[in-house]
Amino acid sequence: MKPETADSRHVWHPFTQHNEYETSILIGSARGVWLHDARGRRYLDGVSSLWTNLHGHRHPRIDSAIRRQLGRVAHTTLLGAGNPPSALLAERLANIAPGDMSRVFYSDSGSTAVEAALKIAYQYWRNRGVRGKKRFLSLREGYHGDTLGAVSVGGIEMFHERFADLLFPGYRAPTPHAYRCPIPPRDHTPEECAAHCAEAARRTLKKHHREIAGFILEPRVQGAAGMLVQPPGYLERIQEIHEEFPDVLLIADEVATGFGRTGKMFASEWGGLEPDMVCLAKGITGGYLPLAATLTTERIFRAFRGDYETRTFFHGHTYTGNPLACAAALASLDIFKRERVLARMQLKIRYLAQRLAPLHEHPHVGEIRQCGFMVGIELVRDRETREEFPIKERVGHRVCLAARKKGVLIRPLGNVVVLNPPLATEKKEMDRLVYAAGWGVKRVLGEPSPAGI
Ligand SMILES: Cc1ncc(COP(=O)(O)O)c(C=O)c1O
Repeated sequence: MKPETADSRHVWHPFTQHNEYETSILIGSARGVWLHDARGRRYLDGVSSLWTNLHGHRHPRIDSAIRRQLGRVAHTTLLGAGNPPSALLAERLANIAPGDMSRVFYSDSGSTAVEAALKIAYQYWRNRGVRGKKRFLSLREGYHGDTLGAVSVGGIEMFHERFADLLFPGYRAPTPHAYRCPIPPRDHTPEECAAHCAEAARRTLKKHHREIAGFILEPRVQGAAGMLVQPPGYLERIQEIHEEFPDVLLIADEVATGFGRTGKMFASEWGGLEPDMVCLAKGITGGYLPLAATLTTERIFRAFRGDYETRTFFHGHTYTGNPLACAAALASLDIFKRERVLARMQLKIRYLAQRLAPLHEHPHVGEIRQCGFMVGIELVRDRETREEFPIKERVGHRVCLAARKKGVLIRPLGNVVVLNPPLATEKKEMDRLVYAAGWGVKRVLGEPSPAGI
């Protein structure tokens, strides 16, 4: 059977309606920011293979780190043993992560990193003899993964609403999104939006903190909600609130924003956030292998020491701390240093903003949001009223399909066209990325653009 046939007959693709999916692209190889399909066509990896790839595909340093580790051992368990790459990586992550992290609990996806964080937070209070803390506070349009715990603290209606019967209840705080500020009036300035949304979170904590084990949020950018960039001042206020309620653990979900995506190593740095726990995945291995980490402070870890039956964290996954993945992650961190990735990105971030600016002229582009290499182009039916396109029109999806014709692979989030290229993307490649997205918008929404995007 040809791979295309096998794919269409046997693979169930995630987040995919198979009635409308045809296997049109099978990626067989890649180099740098380019993906090559089996027919010899190449595509720019415009969303970093789902927000994971950092330094380009087949980076020699990561390739050889994995090969070296393969020459030793591919997998051993962390249950009752350890391995050098996972030990060394834990030390490095604890040193660079926001807050005062000292312990790393490994798993294999963003969802499992979050799931572990929620269970650690819940059990932490029990282990300390504090009863009644069985709820979480999260942001209304948050996304933390697809396992049931992660969905319980999530709020993307289309993905999550249908599972409502299976979820545990919790408290929600408004999403600080200045373009559609959830707190009236809608035309708040970004600063007002930040202040009002943070204050709403504070009020909920004030009333319910005795029941709340943890407050989880995506710092700086709520990715899956549509690349919503938090307005200036929001994170700083969240840090103040965190200090006001030390009996609620703050969990920073940096699965999407970690490892340079926002222009800083971690997005918490944008507002001096000092969380009690940090969830990492996606870019942790440079986009090579599945690996995730839940980082905690020593204070949290200490509460789990003691009696086996009552204090132990009975949670873990088979491939926890996989040495191949940890070797890739160590090599990726080396590249950050050797190639001065963060410093070199800054110019490219500004360049990307310049290239994106003319897209504003298009009458159906409502807002362009950018933080570092995370970009969301929100398409609206009416720019004046900010009226959205009905989801069933699949506008974002159609724009992304059109962009493929110009050799760029991107994926939308509803009506938001997402660009999130590898950190290694160079200016010329950004030109292509933005050109293809703009071309897709024109192709699907038709209107001529005065600025000639
Ligand atoms: C902020 C955030 N948390 C958690 C997840 C879940 O990660 P995974 O898909 O690896 O389970 C995602 C995925 O997009 C995410 O953006």
